Amino acid sequence: MATEIRQIHDEFAGEVSGIDLREPLSAADVATIEAGMDQHAVLVFRNQNITDEQQIAFSKNFGNIEMKLGGNIRSETRVNELINDVSNLDNNNKPFDREDRFRYFNLGNHLWHSDSSFRAVPAKYSLLSGRKIPSEGGNTEFADMRAAYDALDDKTKAQVESMVCEHSQIYSRGKLGFTFNEEEIDLMKPVRQAMVRSHPVSGRKSLYLSAHAGAIIDMPLPEAKLFLMNLNEFATERRFVYAHKWTQYDLVIWDNRQVMHRARGYDETQPRDMRRTTIAGETMTAEQVAA
Ligand code: OGA
Ligand code: MN
Repeated sequence: MATEIRQIHDEFAGEVSGIDLREPLSAADVATIEAGMDQHAVLVFRNQNITDEQQIAFSKNFGNIEMKLGGNIRSETRVNELINDVSNLDNNNKPFDREDRFRYFNLGNHLWHSDSSFRAVPAKYSLLSGRKIPSEGGNTEFADMRAAYDALDDKTKAQVESMVCEHSQIYSRGKLGFTFNEEEIDLMKPVRQAMVRSHPVSGRKSLYLSAHAGAIIDMPLPEAKLFLMNLNEFATERRFVYAHKWTQYDLVIWDNRQVMHRARGYDETQPRDMRRTTIAGETMTAEQVAA
């Protein structure tokens, strides 16, 4: 069966059919998916009952899998070490207690963000596999940062053009009142990211926003925070958003260079087993300051 992509939102996001992610991909299929990602920024694959190993093998078609150091406070044992456990499950496969620190940390995923924008070389793609889905809620929403950029007025476009932000998980989790210990703070030093990025293939510009952004270089902090709040509000207006309603064994890929995403609430006494592989990016978006 031929691999086909059908657009599922007015502006972006596509659904891919005619492909089995348990099997090795042909070069043609890889090229079709890459081109589909360049265009749609989010791709949905239905009915992909894959193992961790199959998810890893599929992911490697798109680049190197990002190392997890500094990504999470949890040293996992539940899933393959190349996979990020973004489930609500503890090491006994039971939903976290309400007061569990890992649960608090994971609530950061409910803020609009781009994965690994807190790394000097931030992520390219994320691939999220829905192994167990709660009966209601728990959607993942995506906002198209290309469309948001295009919709800015000329004055704002000029203002953001050479803007550089500081990103750290201390900023994003801090928004929810989460606190880190010394060792964690050491791993989470802010990095610099350009506010405007150009896609390496299409050249299309996009806003590089994320909950991890907490300061703007050369701007007073209250002004910067307000600017980021207002810009985030604009960039996540419903016209820019595709809401993915999960069914078991969906796999969704998104391009962190072109979209933001967030998790939505659900009954957390039910298991929601989500596993993410992250593809490393290739370049920095801004010059870093020497340590
Ligand atoms: C992620 C993430 C959202 C969700 O895996 O990076 O933000 O809906 N997940 O689980
Ligand atoms: Mn995420």
